[in-house]
Amino acid sequence: MEVDIFQTYIQLTKNSRLEQVNWDNLPFGKLFSDHMFTMDFENGNWSKPKIIPYGDISISPANSAIHYGQSCFEGMKAHRDVNGDIVLFRPYENARRFNSSNKRMCIPEINEEVFVNSILELISIDKEWVPQNLDHSLYIRPFIFATDPYIGIKPSDSYKFMIFTCPVGSYYKEPVSVKVETNYSRAVQGGTGFSKAAGNYAAALYPAMLATKEGFRQLIWTDAKEHKYIEEAGTMNILFVIDNVLITPIAGDTILNGITRKSVVEIAKDWEMEVQERKIEVKEVSDALKDGSLTEAFGAGTAATIAPISNISIYGENFLIPESKDYHFHTKVLKYLSEYKIGMHPDKFNWLIKV
Ligand code: COI
Repeated sequence: MEVDIFQTYIQLTKNSRLEQVNWDNLPFGKLFSDHMFTMDFENGNWSKPKIIPYGDISISPANSAIHYGQSCFEGMKAHRDVNGDIVLFRPYENARRFNSSNKRMCIPEINEEVFVNSILELISIDKEWVPQNLDHSLYIRPFIFATDPYIGIKPSDSYKFMIFTCPVGSYYKEPVSVKVETNYSRAVQGGTGFSKAAGNYAAALYPAMLATKEGFRQLIWTDAKEHKYIEEAGTMNILFVIDNVLITPIAGDTILNGITRKSVVEIAKDWEMEVQERKIEVKEVSDALKDGSLTEAFGAGTAATIAPISNISIYGENFLIPESKDYHFHTKVLKYLSEYKIGMHPDKFNWLIKV
């Protein structure tokens, strides 16, 4: 079946895979919705956007994104609200971050309205894929990559922008065990750490694999120069509560500008909690763990949402973090944010956009 609505060419699938979904046991990122969005950049212009059945794509073996990594992505979620309507959470923040990543990687920027409208259009076609279970969501993966078949180092002349979605449950099913990494580095000053450049994630795999062998689920990266300051966890930003103050490293440069992190900080300020966005020494964290002033450590990310940390290994010494309690800030903010996203609170920050 082919229908043309708005400006987008739309080809609907004849074989929906919806019946394959086990809604009670959603894996993270393994099962993809029926359709995908695609738009090509060639000769300085974007082509007509298309929404077509989800499926494999064909690229040249000389594709420059495969060889040199000129590729960026975003991660965001759509939720079903308490009235059954579908809402996006802060999509313009993702549009802006996507463009800041793209700029750094010499990839053409995408108009913010085009970015958000493409997502709205795709989800309105695959709305049955947005979980009814209010604890689940539809993960949205916009991405862009170079498509020149060219063996030489230069920005590509052509690109493909695509979006697909997948219904998901939680990324971390239990509190996360982490190790402070003081050998390998994820990002350097003036590098690409602030962005969602694909290569950032590839470079993190090896040290993360070593940590997994030691029994840790994630690393906490430290600055590349001295391994003295806490940065982020790679799948999420990191936040601590020390002496009732919410403390998190400043985002940007070597640290991803996380939208969940930013939302948590904005909520904490709204709740009149003291918030410090500043450098945090590894030693400050271990001292605060030793004297008991550190009461909470958690990650914040789109996939991870708010992920409590169970223990932190620092220079080989393993520290247990106090268990999550209802009165803890991260428990309260997780509850509030989860409820906010499904319309249980007034949208006082203007964060929600209806599909
Ligand atoms: C996200 O939080 O959406 C990310 O991109 C992280 C990825 C590890 C799933």
